[in-house]
Amino acid sequence: MLRKIITTADGSKTIQIEEWNEQYHSIHGAIQEANHVYIKHGLLFCFDLLKFLNGKVQEISVLEIGFGTGLNAFLTLLQSEKHPMDVHYVGVEAFPISSKEMEALNYAEELQVLEKIALFEEMHNCTWEKENRLTSHFTLKKQQKLFKEITEKDQFDLIYFDAFGARVQPELWTESIFKIMYDALKSEGVLVTYAAKGSVRRALQSVGFSVERLPGPPGKREMLRARKGT
Ligand SMILES: C[S@@+](CC[C@H](N)C(=O)[O-])C[C@H]1O[C@@H](n2cnc3c(N)ncnc32)[C@H](O)[C@@H]1O
Repeated sequence: MLRKIITTADGSKTIQIEEWNEQYHSIHGAIQEANHVYIKHGLLFCFDLLKFLNGKVQEISVLEIGFGTGLNAFLTLLQSEKHPMDVHYVGVEAFPISSKEMEALNYAEELQVLEKIALFEEMHNCTWEKENRLTSHFTLKKQQKLFKEITEKDQFDLIYFDAFGARVQPELWTESIFKIMYDALKSEGVLVTYAAKGSVRRALQSVGFSVERLPGPPGKREMLRARKGT
């Protein structure tokens, strides 16, 4: 399918699948959306939760559903330098972007961290199927496979569920996929997603998640956060 780089409302780029009229991020702002959904309501929430439960946070293991442009991974790496956390990040992606696409993205520039651009490139160029240490606080393992092939159990503190929308890939927003997510999480694990549809919330609840609706990023009324524990 044809992919095209576009600029979103906050100036950051994303990829569009023309045939589906679907983007890798919100057209209202790729960085804004990622920061709101995955960092604020995902990573930083999980960081506070683990601190509350265990007294301190040492390690956070994150599973990303749809590594795509690497924006969520890059923002997470930047956070790991600001807070006392060591992040082990697994990004699953069946259809990796090309080097040309990667070069057209402007995240380091928009985030004003041009000195980190080599790290962003390393995220894309590092070996698949192997844990790569990118900084003293961040490791990345990219796995090239379908989401339905994920077999990890009780391994992750946090899941970034960032698949294309149910309008174009309804098969990814089903009980069978959410069961795989539920099983992959540790007992107090958290899943966040930009989606807010009632059918998605019910599918999450039906496999055992407690689900809350939270205010969405600019341009979107709500998003969902699901917890394995109560
Ligand atoms: C919304 S985009 C992900 C955006 C990404 N998190 C980012 O920050 O760029 C969804 C991603 O899921 C991938 N994908 C679609 N169907 C998949 C499947 N069945 N299994 C694995 N990856 C899939 C796409 O190639 C795409 O990269």
